[in-house]
This record gives sequence, structure tokens and C-alpha cells, in this order.
Amino acid sequence: MSSQPKRLLRSAAWFGSADKNGFMYRSWMKNQGIPDHEFQGKPIIGICNTWSELTPCNAHFRKLADHVKQGVLEAGGYPVEFPVFSNGESNLRPTAMFTRNLASMDVEEAIRGNPLDAVVLLVGCDKTTPALLMGAASCDIPTIVVSGGPMLNGKHKGKDIGSGTVVWQLSEQVKAGTISLHDFMAAEAGMSRSAGTCNTMGTASTMACMAESLGTTLPHNAAIPAVDSRRYVLAHLSGNRIVEMVDEDLKLSKILTREAFANAIRTNAAIGGSTNAVIHLKAIAGRIGVDLALDDWTRIGRGTPTIVDLQPSGRFLMEEFYYAGGLPAVLKRLGEADRLPHGDALTVNGKTLWDNVKDAPLYDDEVIRPWDTPLREDGGMCVLRGNLAPQGAVLKPSAATPELMNHHGQAVVFENFDDYKARINDPALEVTADSILVMKHCGPRGYHGMAEVGNMGLPAKLLEQGVTDMVRISDARMSGTAYGTVVLHVAPEAAAGGPLAAVRNGDWISLDCAAGSLQLEIDDAELEARLAQSDPTAASRRIASDGGYRQLYIEHVLQADEGCDFDFLVGCRGAEVPRHSH
Ligand code: FES
Ligand code: MG
Repeated sequence: MSSQPKRLLRSAAWFGSADKNGFMYRSWMKNQGIPDHEFQGKPIIGICNTWSELTPCNAHFRKLADHVKQGVLEAGGYPVEFPVFSNGESNLRPTAMFTRNLASMDVEEAIRGNPLDAVVLLVGCDKTTPALLMGAASCDIPTIVVSGGPMLNGKHKGKDIGSGTVVWQLSEQVKAGTISLHDFMAAEAGMSRSAGTCNTMGTASTMACMAESLGTTLPHNAAIPAVDSRRYVLAHLSGNRIVEMVDEDLKLSKILTREAFANAIRTNAAIGGSTNAVIHLKAIAGRIGVDLALDDWTRIGRGTPTIVDLQPSGRFLMEEFYYAGGLPAVLKRLGEADRLPHGDALTVNGKTLWDNVKDAPLYDDEVIRPWDTPLREDGGMCVLRGNLAPQGAVLKPSAATPELMNHHGQAVVFENFDDYKARINDPALEVTADSILVMKHCGPRGYHGMAEVGNMGLPAKLLEQGVTDMVRISDARMSGTAYGTVVLHVAPEAAAGGPLAAVRNGDWISLDCAAGSLQLEIDDAELEARLAQSDPTAASRRIASDGGYRQLYIEHVLQADEGCDFDFLVGCRGAEVPRHSH
């Protein structure tokens, strides 16, 4: 018999009654060999697992779950592991983003409908982190995030290579004729040589850092390599801690405050994080009832140096980042420079963010740079507005060429991704290094799912001339592992009738990152006349008419500035116990 719980457990509504319903809930659980005393007064801890062999980055999660279970059992809780939709980035087509909201619905309903007092979210591959946090936030029970950790450094020809980033680099080199196709393929096995997520500061590492800076994880969760034994220790300790969080009623809403999101935005600038974080943080905030605006990224993030020297913005990988001190060392540096806006924000271990990091050691100034010699003076996400993006667009300064961030050029327009692929390497394409590549119909509705195609590879004939970057504009996203002077998330998207749909070859466009402006240099009347001439929404309407999840997605997805959540999913619906099933 365990000791009396300190509060009425949610799970007691299933297992706590000596009647027909209690019989049913307990009896079927007993077919797993669970003795009576496990149900009596113990917090039931759900372990929400995104394990899947189709999500290679999360394929080691059953072992991770075992360590969480040991921690839960040791602390006097009872762990129950359950699977949810695993949206793996590398295999899923047309993009893992298409199913982020689907996974979040799975998580939300699984938590609410089951006898759970708290939940541990096992996340890794990049969309799994926001998907699970979104679902859990809509329920608002005690929640702790455990990430799977990054892969070890990739190795190729005696050099370190980074997940994703090296693919973009080498594929451009093949097009430029500086390496052979055989050389390119030889890097495949060396890039991914251990369990774990992308080892660059791509979206997975960024979202792991976001989860830690939001206070939803134990310290160091973001950076410990997947195969480092300390990852399993952290999983065990997270299992210990979630049981205490039930007693303390430490719900997600006490952690995911407006102040926590401000800390995360500042952290994103310091780490040179992925543009995907802009969309995901908005979606998570929307689920917990925090009103986060696109302009908060300017207001809070602007002027914050990027001090983490990781690919794709810089040189190193997540292994070095952990050995250098990991995210606690970055947060400490932010705090010492008076740039951590809310050090008093509460975290899942019951301490404040600043308490967790104020004594954090920092071992390597090359990887986590001193404040006065940053990688980029201003690493804050650049939010752009203008007649080309009335609801905003974003650009990641740490991945861009400074000279191109103020640029005036003529558009070379691609109507969609297929059009881009068909013509980009055509020797007859009229394009110079000063042109601006514009691609339409790659937003949430247009692609469907807003694929990571915004970092359009450059025309082969310019690569051969040694051109390494050009301004690119689209309503797409880009992989967190990619780089370049790339304007993304243009909203409203072309397929929603946004002005991007009206751009024509030869139009002049001006980009001014310092002023936050993106202008198509035609007058309003001309813009309206062009938009009236076509129906840019027709293609996505046609796809939606096929029915299925695609229809739901296209009809309900919000634009990028609103986090690409479904309109009907925004908000916290709580975890009131539903009525009995029999
Ligand atoms: Fe899974 Fe990058 S592909 S984290
Ligand atoms: Mg990605």
C-alpha cells in the first residue's frame, strides 16, 4: 500500500472506485500483470512516445522511455507508455509540417481521454517537439519534456560534417562542378553515424533549446548527445521529477507564461536558431493562451548577438556545444549581459531559469563566444513587412550575407516548386547574381504543408561563376540546417491570395532588413488589378476537394504569422475528466 497522495489524483476517476466502472478500468489493465497496489493512490505518469523506425531520429526512444520509467517507479509513480503519431522529418512527404497539427490532436486527445495525472513528452526529430507541446498545452496537466538528443558529429574525409547543412553545401558543389557525384554520395553514411537528431543548430536542436529556455525540461536537456549515458540519466531524473510535479500541481500553464516565451525568443537569437521556431512558438503559445505576435520577435529579439558558433550559421556541431557547457552556459552569458529578460521564470524543476544556470560552467569560448566577440552582432530574427508581405515575413540574419540584407533587384519568378525545378538550371534562364529569386505556392495551403523549399538552390550557371548567395523570397519555410539570404513565411501566402501571387518577371523588389521592409515596386492599383486577373486559390481548392486530412488541413490551417495551427485547435481546453465509456 503506498502512502496517501497529497491531492486527489485525476487517475482516481478511473481506478479509484469500488464499482462496475472501477472494475472495468482496473481489470483490463491487470492483463498486463499490474498488481492492485500500483493503482492505489499513485500518480499515473503517461510517457508519450514518438518512437518510430520511420522517424530515424527518434528510433532509440524505447530505451529512453525505459529510463524515464525507472525514474517514475523510483519516485513512487506508475509509468504507462503510449505511442502517438511520429512526424519524422526525413521520410515524410510532402513535409512533416503537414502532420504537425495532426500529431498535436493525437497527443491532446490521448492525454485527456486517459487515466493520466501527468505526462513526459519524448521528442526529438524537429516537428515532434512542437506537436507534443501543442497537444499537452491544450490539456494543461503537469508536463516535462525529454528530448532524444543530437547525433554525434558527422565525419567525412577526416572532417566534421553537419546534418543537413553538408547536403546543401555538397549538392551546390556538384552543380558548380567542384566535386563529383561519387564524392557527394560518399558523405551519406558519415553524416548520420549514431542515433539522434540533426547535430547542427537545425530545427530539432533549436526546438530542444526552445523547450529548455521555456523551462519545460531539466537543465542540459537540449545538448547532451543521444548516445551519451548522461542522456539516460537525464531521462531517469525527469521520471523522478514528474512524480513530484503531480504533488505540486505544477501544470504547464505555470511554466509556459508570456515571460517564458520572451526568454525563448532571446535565446533563439543567441543560438542562431531556426526560423521554424517563429512558427512553432506561436502555435504553442496559442494553445496555452499566451498572445505572441510576430513583432515580438523584433521587439524582444532585436539587437541580441548570436554567440553560439554552430552550423549552419557558424562552425561547430551539437557535440562541441554540449562539451562547451550547453544551453545553461548560453543562458548564463545572456543573464550576465543583462539580456535574459525574465530570469525569474519558473521551470519544471521548481527553480527559476536563472537559479538553474547562474553557476553553469563554460568550457570553450570558441563554441560559446564571449559577448564582445559574437558570431553576429544582431542575431535577432528579422521580421519584414511591406506590400509584398502585409502580414509579415522572416529572415534569419545569422545565416544571411550581410551585404545582401539591403538589396534592390529584379524578380525571377517561379510559379511553384515544380516550375522552379524545371527551369533553375536552364542555361537560357535570364538571371544574374543581383536578381531576386521569387517562388510562389509553397505556403501552408499552397504546397500543402509549407515545405522547407525556401532556400532554393542557386542556378548552376551562377554557381559555376562562383556566386554563393542570392536574395530569395517565398511563402515556404526553410530547413533549420539551411542558410542564405532567404526571405521566408511571406504572409498571406500566394495560395491564400497574398500579393506574392502578383509578382512578375522583371519587377523590382527592395529588401531592407534594418528597416524591416519588403516592397514590390508597383503601385497599389496595379497590384490589385493583377490579383483580380487570376485566381491563386484555385490549385489548393482543387487539392482540398479530394477530401481526407488534406481537406481538413487546407480549409483550416492558419497563415505562418499565426503559427500554421488549425483555427479550431487554438486555445487551452483543459483536462477535465470525460464521462464514462460504459
Ligand atoms: Fe530528424 Fe533533422 S531529420 S532531426
Ligand atoms: Mg528540418
